[in-house]
Amino acid sequence: MTVTPERVTPTLPIYQRVSEEQNVNSAEAEEFLDRMFAEGAAEEGDRFETRLAEVRAEIAETGTYRHTAAELAYGARVAWRNSARCIGRLYWHSLRIRDRRRVTDPAAIAGECVAHLRQATRGGRIRPTITVFAPDTPAAPGPRIHNEQLIRYAGYRFEDGSVLGDPRYAEFTEQVRRLGWRPPERRGSFDVLPLLVEASPGDPQLFTLPADAVLEVPLTHPDHRWFAGLGLRWHAVPAISNMPLEIGGVTYPAAPFNGWYVGSEIGARNLADEQRYDLLPVIAELMGLDIASERTLWRDRALVELTLAVQHSFDAAGVTMADHHTESRRFLTHLDREEQSGRRCPADWSWIVPPLSGGQTPVFHRYYDPPDPEQRPAFLSPD
Ligand code: ARG
Repeated sequence: MTVTPERVTPTLPIYQRVSEEQNVNSAEAEEFLDRMFAEGAAEEGDRFETRLAEVRAEIAETGTYRHTAAELAYGARVAWRNSARCIGRLYWHSLRIRDRRRVTDPAAIAGECVAHLRQATRGGRIRPTITVFAPDTPAAPGPRIHNEQLIRYAGYRFEDGSVLGDPRYAEFTEQVRRLGWRPPERRGSFDVLPLLVEASPGDPQLFTLPADAVLEVPLTHPDHRWFAGLGLRWHAVPAISNMPLEIGGVTYPAAPFNGWYVGSEIGARNLADEQRYDLLPVIAELMGLDIASERTLWRDRALVELTLAVQHSFDAAGVTMADHHTESRRFLTHLDREEQSGRRCPADWSWIVPPLSGGQTPVFHRYYDPPDPEQRPAFLSPD
């Protein structure tokens, strides 16, 4: 059963349509089917020639074709496998697929995003999951979710330029406020933003996420009692929602997907970057370090304690989280397996190497096949 989140307000169009609404290129469809059959991912008894003929006929008639459930699952998993920036690809095959191509109503789309969060969160035993909504077709564009992730925190910019919350989403927060979103009575640093769903072009609509669909972890430190007093928290599930999924020439503009967090993403980036929560000076001072001199390495010492607090808190809350040392080793296992399967595995060094203690992880000490922007299936960068 799907819970329909509350529609917030009527809205104004703010986004331009992007899709060019052209026919699917049948060479791209053929290349995809060819790979799928070559990798042995087709269903028992299916023949490549038969399926290809079917797809070609469908494209000739309608300008596009519908993926079978098996094609959609294989395509989504390989799009993950091809994500050059992702260190967590060892588990690409375990991605769970929620096929929601027939859901087109904006409130129902928001409802499916909520259902995705619940099923992916499972009280903390996080499961890599993707929900695929309708593709772009020559007849109509597919829906779009404008949030970068299903769960993100508002950033409120004040006249003096300072920001309460996550500065990365200050502009998005402005946008949804113009569209009628009302922040909580008492604004805080961790107010969950509403979903902005554009199911038909020019009609973006806002939906609030029910609080019980958003698992969050309050942050404490195993040794420093004062840490809890900072009132920090983070959400359990990173679910990217604005990267179109392209499979065999077909684009699914709304296909939110999630894995689990590596502690350093939160402790050494989201809460630490100067352009984000910028907490290192605060933590270093509470640790009694001299932040007037770089020579005390206060940044480095605070970064470690903050990341440790994140890991400790997720562990205490029973929420799946990797650490950068373990995840780095797993990635090398993944590379080995890909090599054994005779595949190239492009990787982006600057994204793969963790943001702290890079040289202490094995992924630092080597180069990778360069990312190939032509590789498909793929998650595309948002426009
Ligand atoms: N780094 C992003 C964040 O902190 C999430 C990117 C995806 N990460 C993941 N573990 N699947 O929100």
